[in-house]
Amino acid sequence: MKEAYRCATSTARQTRAVGAMLAGQLRPGDVLLLTGGLGAGKSELCRGIARGLGIQGPVPSPSFTILNRYEEGHVPYNHFDWYRVSGEEELRESGLDEMLDRHSISAIEWHERAPGLLPADCLEISLTPLDGDERQISFQPRGAFRALDWAALTPPSKEDT
Ligand SMILES: Nc1ncnc2c1ncn2[C@@H]1O[C@H](COP(=O)(O)OP(=O)(O)OP(=O)(O)O)[C@@H](O)[C@H]1O
Ligand SMILES: [Mg+2]
Repeated sequence: MKEAYRCATSTARQTRAVGAMLAGQLRPGDVLLLTGGLGAGKSELCRGIARGLGIQGPVPSPSFTILNRYEEGHVPYNHFDWYRVSGEEELRESGLDEMLDRHSISAIEWHERAPGLLPADCLEISLTPLDGDERQISFQPRGAFRALDWAALTPPSKEDT
């Protein structure tokens, strides 16, 4: 599937800034799929989204908790990491699948573990390490996920972050 927009960042701070800018365009019910290997920067982007949603406190990686949910921002925010999940069944049994509701914004790291739980309409965001600390970030709407104002996701310069 063709990506809608692609950019590159050279610091974690810039990646968080892209996440914060994206948050400004998100709506309740949006599901974001973060694709990329260990250390690609998925959690950094999700942290930026949290900041953009008005969540002020720490945003730790949910790799052990599977879900960190935040209700203090403009919209409830689910930050999932399914790395340790064996599959769809485990998420259904624990009731975590029900957190993917139309009132919350959900960002999912390691979504590949349970493809059957993902809505058809969602936004895939792929992070790919390039040279050094550089990361390519590409945005691919799936299904009928709406087009965003992609140009508004241009990373600010390193000096401005
Ligand atoms: N341009 C960049 N964007 C994002 N992170 C960067 C960048 N440059 C360096 N980093 C560093 O790379 C690491 C990214 O870690 P992060 O936890 O976000 O990865 P992850 O994709 O969530 O991995 P995991 O699959 O283990 O959860 C951090 O230590 C961060 O400081
Ligand atoms: Mg992570």
